[in-house]
Amino acid sequence: MPSSPDTLGRPLRDLRISVTDRCNFRCPYCMPKEAFGPGHAFLSDERIMSRDELVRIARAFVRKGAGKIRLTGGEPLLRPDLPSIISAIKEGSGATEVALTTNGWLLERQAAALRQAGLDRINVSVDSIDDATAGRMNGLGFKVARVLAGIEAAAGAGLPVKVNCVLQRGVNDGEILALCEYFRERGHTLRFIEYMDVGTTNHWSGSQVVPAKEIVERVSARWPLLPVGPAYRGEVAARYRYADGRGEIGIVGSVTEPFCRDCNRARLSADGKLFTCLFASAGHDVLARLRSGASDDELDAFIGGVWSARRDRYSEERARAQGGREKIEMSYIGG
Ligand code: GTP
Ligand code: 5AD
Ligand code: SF4
Ligand code: SF4
Repeated sequence: MPSSPDTLGRPLRDLRISVTDRCNFRCPYCMPKEAFGPGHAFLSDERIMSRDELVRIARAFVRKGAGKIRLTGGEPLLRPDLPSIISAIKEGSGATEVALTTNGWLLERQAAALRQAGLDRINVSVDSIDDATAGRMNGLGFKVARVLAGIEAAAGAGLPVKVNCVLQRGVNDGEILALCEYFRERGHTLRFIEYMDVGTTNHWSGSQVVPAKEIVERVSARWPLLPVGPAYRGEVAARYRYADGRGEIGIVGSVTEPFCRDCNRARLSADGKLFTCLFASAGHDVLARLRSGASDDELDAFIGGVWSARRDRYSEERARAQGGREKIEMSYIGG
């Protein structure tokens, strides 16, 4: 039976599952090298959900109301059994849609297998199409061409693609129009994401956020934009279409235009903890319960209990800053 809505009346609809806390990039806004160097304690293999554990938990979330499942990381393509996870979720969980968010570095080789496994669609991060800036933003000097080839491979394999671009003032905001032009021509929806104060290691500052309103103004000065309603209730990106008919863009304005009131997302970390907000400071250990022998009914009751007690709305409360609050890193909780 679906969970009752949370304390703010929001149903459980989406589940984001982090399949690994590791990544082959070191984007300074997410996993800065200083904090995620050789000394960093990543999750050990034993602590990470196996494919079968993950699918059993996913099935419980579907019973409690989740329809869409998105696999994230860290970088999900680092997980060798990813295609098998996808097909098991598709076949065994009852989810209506399985999507993936990736940095695209390993995509060219894997796109066809992901599609074959039943993946419905894919979101790929591209912060810059200039190699020097891209290299700075992935922290390792990697060139962007390989990611762009991954995007074309995914599209060629039949996967609808969206492109995610985190904007940082003074770093890549000079590229807004170049990015729009590149992806307009290729027919992929580009979404600009406001730089968020997620985690504690990225030294976030409000001065680096490029507000959603400014992004829309800058794009529409070149290509007039028309607002489009959301594709589904609780969609994080505000959508706009180009008036000239060349597709659309999206803006995820979680800092200046928060969308907590419709937030229907649960997050599962790679070690099987349920987080009810991207900015939560603690999770609820679903995997521990599964490993100590909980029945499906017990898992359902646990998930339903956590969801119905949920009161998170961090982005809406951000304005009234709560200094010193501990926050989980995004690479662990899953963007
Ligand atoms: P679609 O299903 O294609 O709409 O995907 P999505 O936008 O929900 O997922 P994606 O992984 O592409 O995330 C895009 C950006 O939105 C990332 O920066 C996420 O961290 C951010 N995001 C997704 N969900 C939430 C949320 O619930 N709260 C906040 N604050 N940001 C979110
Ligand atoms: N602010 C906004 N978006 C971020 N992402 C990672 N860290 C941040 C941050 N601090 C993005 C990634 C990816 C998506 C899952 O989240 O670039 O596109
Ligand atoms: Fe890796 Fe994505 Fe974080 Fe960059 S934003 S370090 S690609 S998980
Ligand atoms: Fe949902 Fe938390 Fe994001 Fe608000 S800040 S939209 S409650 S995940």
